[in-house]
Formats: sequence, C-alpha cells, structure tokens
Amino acid sequence: MNFKRFQKHKVETIGEKIKITFLTEIKLEELAEKLDEFSFFPDFAHRLEDDGIILNQEAARRMANLYEAIEHKDYNRNDISVLLARILFCLFAEDTGIFDKKVFEDYITENTDGSNLGEHLMSIFKTLDTPPAKRATLNKKLSKFHYVNGGLFDEKLTKVPPTNKAIRTALLECCTYDWSDISPVIFGSLFQAVIHEEERRSLGAHYTSEKNILRVVNPLFLDKLRSNFEEIESDKELEKFRKQLSTMMFLDPACGCGNFLVVTYRELRLLDIEIIQRQFKGKYVTDVSLLSNVHLANFHGYEIDQTSAMIAEVAMWLTEHQMNMRLESEFGKTVPTIPLDEAAVIVNENSLNLNWSTKKKDVAFDYILGNPPFIGKQYQTTEQKSDIGKILHGIKGAGVLDYVTCWYIKSAEYMKKNPDTRTALVSTNSIAQGEQTGILWNELLLNMI
Ligand SMILES: C[S@@+](CC[C@H](N)C(=O)[O-])C[C@H]1O[C@@H](n2cnc3c(N)ncnc32)[C@H](O)[C@@H]1O
Repeated sequence: MNFKRFQKHKVETIGEKIKITFLTEIKLEELAEKLDEFSFFPDFAHRLEDDGIILNQEAARRMANLYEAIEHKDYNRNDISVLLARILFCLFAEDTGIFDKKVFEDYITENTDGSNLGEHLMSIFKTLDTPPAKRATLNKKLSKFHYVNGGLFDEKLTKVPPTNKAIRTALLECCTYDWSDISPVIFGSLFQAVIHEEERRSLGAHYTSEKNILRVVNPLFLDKLRSNFEEIESDKELEKFRKQLSTMMFLDPACGCGNFLVVTYRELRLLDIEIIQRQFKGKYVTDVSLLSNVHLANFHGYEIDQTSAMIAEVAMWLTEHQMNMRLESEFGKTVPTIPLDEAAVIVNENSLNLNWSTKKKDVAFDYILGNPPFIGKQYQTTEQKSDIGKILHGIKGAGVLDYVTCWYIKSAEYMKKNPDTRTALVSTNSIAQGEQTGILWNELLLNMI
C-alpha cells in the first residue's frame, strides 16, 4: 500500500469481470518474517529457500571454524560447550539490541591479540556476571558490558579459554557476521555442522524443520487455543484465558538445541501479544510486569549432549528477547530482556534416567512433545541397550524395538499417572509398520491406558 503496509489481494477473472478479494495485510516491520506470503511470485519461493540455506551455511561455517580452532588446542569438551554458548549469546546480543551495537566485536578488535584473548574473554564474562552493586570498580572499557545474570556467565569454566591467532581470527569472523538474521529455531541444524558427525549419529540427532514442528504444535494445542481466543467476548474471559497461557507446562524430553521449545514459546508469546493488544489497548500501562505472562520457566527440556543443552538454554533467552522486541513494535512498550531473571529448565542428563516432572509440586506437564532419537537395534551403543533393558523391561520381543520407543513408553506411563497430559512425538513410520508395530502398540494400548 504505502510501503508501511502491504496488502495481498486475489485477482480473478470471472467471465468479463474482474473480482478482487482482500487476503491479508502485512506491516513493513513484519515483512522480512512473512516473506513466505509472497512465495506465489515465480521463482521467489526457491530464492527464499536458497537464501535461507546459504545464510545458515555461512553462519555454521564460521562457528565451525571457531570450534575447530579451539578444539585443536585440546580445550576440555565441557568447557568448549560453555564457551560456545556464551560466545553465541554475545554475538546475538550485540546484533539484536541486548548489548550496545558491536560492543563485543569492538572490544575484541581493540584490546586483544593472539596471546591474551582468553584472559580478556574471562574478564568480559566476569563483567557480564557482575551485578550493579558491585560494578563501581570496573574499568571503563569493560563497564560497557551490562549485567546479564541467568547463570550463563557464572563460574563454570575450569580453564581460561585457549588463545592463539587462529582462534582470534575465527572469533572476529563470527563477530563480523550479522546474527540478527539467524533464527534460534535453526540452532539445531547450525550446530550439527559444528558438533562431530560421528558423535551425532550415535546420539541419534537430526534436525526437525520449523514447518514440521508446526505440524506437531498446531494440532496438539495451538489451533484450539487460537479458536478459543477468537470466541472470547468479555474482558473477564480474556483475563482468564491469558492466565491459562501463563500456567501451561511443556516438556521436550530429547530437546537437542531446543527448536520445539523455541517454536512453542514463540507461538504462545505471539498469541499473548494479541491478547495484550486487546486487553490494554488505549490504556496507559505503567507496570510493565503486566506484559510478562508466558514464562520461560514453564518450558522444560531434557538433553544428554551438553553443548546442545547449553545452546537450547541460550536459544530460549534469545527468543524471549525477540518476542520482547516484537511486543515493543506492536504495543509501544515492552519488558526488559536483561538481567535475565528466568530461564527455561534445560536438564543435561539422560532423559531415560530422569523422573519426568515439573519444578512445581503437584503440577503436571500439559504437553510432552519433541523428536526423540531414532536409533535402530544395529546402531545402539551399550548404554542405549541398557536404557532399553530398563525402560522396556518385561515387554516381550523388546529386543527388536528402536531406541525411540523408550520415549513412547515413558510418555505413556506419564500420561497414565497424569491423564490430562497430551503427547506428540515425531518418529519415522517403522514404529507403526513392520515387526516393531505389534510389540510396541500392544504394550501401549493394552497396558498403558
Ligand atoms: C532427533 S534429535 C531432536 C533434537 C531437536 N528436537 C531437533 O529437531 O533438532 C534427538 C536428540 O535426542 C538427544 N538424545 C539422545 N539420547 C538421549 C537420551 N538418552 N536422553 C536425552 N537426550 C537424548 C540427542 O542428543 C539429540 O539432541
């Protein structure tokens, strides 16, 4: 329309007449996110996909270079995970308005060389973990890094990060990249290029696209929520509905880099923003806490790989920030992102050894969802076979079952105890076709309901 808003109309020729039907309107600030709406232009859909892939590959390449440079220095695996998650946060933070623009890049460029990078990174991390009351003695250059909190920058590195010219160059290459174009939803695919391929196969990691995640999340609860929202007529109902969103509990019991949780959280926040528009429209909101309703702490993920678990935690914070920005652009006010006072509950452990539960007493998960590892019997490690022995104990013929069936049994057991919980897991069709079918579904249908 006027380059602030774009409208899409359908134009049809009916006999001699032209019929124009209004379809949708998109604001300029939403355009980048909703480019898909214009995929009907010839070749445009392909271009969009290609651009996305090239963008992700470039980000992954730079991150993988950094990872490799650090790994060559024999830095301990756990420390690499922590370091990578912290650096990822800083890279996004300086490109998306959590930090001042380029504050991290400028500091590294101006103050470090191939011999002292590690010590400077430690100083930056310490500053990011220093609360306002203790910042009086900080040097001026470091004081540009505000207090972040959230546990991400507290004392978890056992050794100063390694230092040489190659690591510094790789880090600066990451800094010059514009991370604001990368969605936290694709962290899973991005970090597949970073974490070793061999290890990936034995952990059964493969990435689920956003489109496929929505195919789970929409019918599981979002479609219903949206249609309930449409039907609301009174302010009282609206308030009740908003409260419902704030109490919903989610678990992804094999969350990888958190893409199911990210999409779920993001969609609930978007819905909440619509409610805010209706509830507070025209009113002057002085208490911004009224705008904070969907809580990260309601989103739980279990993940055995430490790097993925740390990335999942960061992905949730970054998505929270994106949604805070979105709230500001739609409503004119928002909640501050830092200090991070809440985090998603990401547990870095073997999901099959855990007692699945929320952190709140007597509160069950409303939804269990995800894409647990799919590993056929010939590829299972000794530990995975032992997990299967524990979880599928007593099930006749369990030896042929895929590792993923453990998540089905655990979910079904959970739902037996908590009948209001609903579960949707993504798996390949071999658990519903062929030799596994009777063994698994007999157990699920006869003993778990
Ligand atoms: C198919 S991936 C799905 C991850 C994510 N949803 C995605 O689409 O990228 C399965 C995840 O399960 C994790 N995993 C494998 N065995 C596990 C276990 N016993 N407990 C917890 N997580 C496990 C893997 O490390 C991997 O991240």
